[in-house]
Amino acid sequence: MAVRSTIKTHVVGAQSEREKLDVFGLFWIFLEILSLAQCWVLYHIWSMKTAVIERCVESKVLIQTAKFVLRVLKAIPLIGGPIAHIFDRLCIFIRLKLMPFMIRKKQTLEKLFRICLIDTTLRNRNVKFILTGDPLDITGTSTSIIIANHRSIMDYALIDFLVHGEHGPDLKQYLGHAFFNHGNYPTASKLRFVGWGRLTGVPSIKFFASILLRDENATVRSSDIERVLMREGNECLALFPEVNVITSELRLVQRKLAKESYLPQLDNVLYPRFKNFNSTVSCLARLQHIDRSRKARYFKKAAHKTGSMILKVRSSRGHPSAKQMAQINLFLGDENLADATVTAKPKPNTNKVPIIVSPFLWDIAIVYYRATYFCQNEHAHIRDMQVHAVTDKKNHYQLQQITPSLFQFLKCPWGDSPIFVRVHVNKVAIPDLLKMNDRKLESWLEKTWLAKDEVLKNMQDSVRLY
Ligand SMILES: *[C@@H]1O[C@H](CO)[C@@H](O)[C@H](O)[C@H]1NC(C)=O
Ligand SMILES: *[C@@H]1O[C@H](CO)[C@@H](O)[C@H](O)[C@H]1NC(C)=O
Repeated sequence: MAVRSTIKTHVVGAQSEREKLDVFGLFWIFLEILSLAQCWVLYHIWSMKTAVIERCVESKVLIQTAKFVLRVLKAIPLIGGPIAHIFDRLCIFIRLKLMPFMIRKKQTLEKLFRICLIDTTLRNRNVKFILTGDPLDITGTSTSIIIANHRSIMDYALIDFLVHGEHGPDLKQYLGHAFFNHGNYPTASKLRFVGWGRLTGVPSIKFFASILLRDENATVRSSDIERVLMREGNECLALFPEVNVITSELRLVQRKLAKESYLPQLDNVLYPRFKNFNSTVSCLARLQHIDRSRKARYFKKAAHKTGSMILKVRSSRGHPSAKQMAQINLFLGDENLADATVTAKPKPNTNKVPIIVSPFLWDIAIVYYRATYFCQNEHAHIRDMQVHAVTDKKNHYQLQQITPSLFQFLKCPWGDSPIFVRVHVNKVAIPDLLKMNDRKLESWLEKTWLAKDEVLKNMQDSVRLY
């Protein structure tokens, strides 16, 4: 029955949250779901075809076979030559024209699905965003990490929306651009979620299956992340260290467990899991050639000390030239080198872009609220999740924390109580994180989550309706 209750809370929504919809509204939602499904199916069919062609082009056996066929054809007198020429041209066409075309269209379809999802759920007059903290300026030309608390299944779409930008193109503009070249939009970053033992761009059936069948301990290996980055180029890696969406039941379980195992008591978040975060950070550290083990850092520190000693000796004999300095730094390893974005080159003889690690990690706090009319009787029944509800007596409105489902967002334009999405973004310099060893990184994550718990609590106290 776990499957049924999962679908009930995340897709359909709780009974109390369902409102009456007229026939027109229902029909409209049906159409929206249909167009979403259409984009989804189109993407997956195209992606399968692209994968087949990619496999063929990269397969060593097929390359050898093609060479052999070419040689055999050339050996045939008279007609062999022209046929060999056509065959050769065909191979070149598939490799240099068809495959890039397929990949480009696949990316277009992926974006189409994502914009369609954003448009049908988040971009409407009844969803209001309250964004605070650092601006989330993620560019498509570097690889960055986003970590966020998990409040609803809609967090996936929300993070996509944030990366996409509030003023990014909507569906109509995007279609115009993709098919008729109207308008010119900067390419938004590709987004991939790290979780449930896989890396997911557009959710596939396998992804839903792993949510339902795998437990929350499923881990993504850092070598898998590296492989995907090398294949797909720079991407934005988003993860929910809590793995599960926080619900009142899970919170109760957690409070009990935390008491028994002396872990910190958290109210607004679940205790973060380390493994996927570790894999992601390890992968980026490896791409930047940073060794995260303690021994490496001791060595580096020692080298740095020796370096400054040598420098002192040299400067006492007169100032060293810039060239000398550079040589010393080159020899000893410059401590500041990691502050810049160091690139990892892809395999030679591919036309893929180098992986550039963005200098920041983005730490996002998310809360969803719904404004409802304040009513004394109802208030008495509100428990736990809604205990912190802020009331504004003057307006007789009440902000209530919710775990919105997909359906709730789909029908939001037809309801009369808006959903408020409160997002706080925190920018963290990444070079320090990449240098930490496992133990330090884990305690950093714990500290960050404790801080996030506090941030969410303060958000609750500071949101007011006017
Ligand atoms: C996940 O791992 C933790 C500790 O490593 C363990 O206590 C827990 O039972 C595991 N959960 C499942 C569902 O296997
Ligand atoms: C963190 O990731 C590295 C690299 O994948 C791995 O060697 C290490 O065992 C991981 N640590 C933990 C605690 O999972």
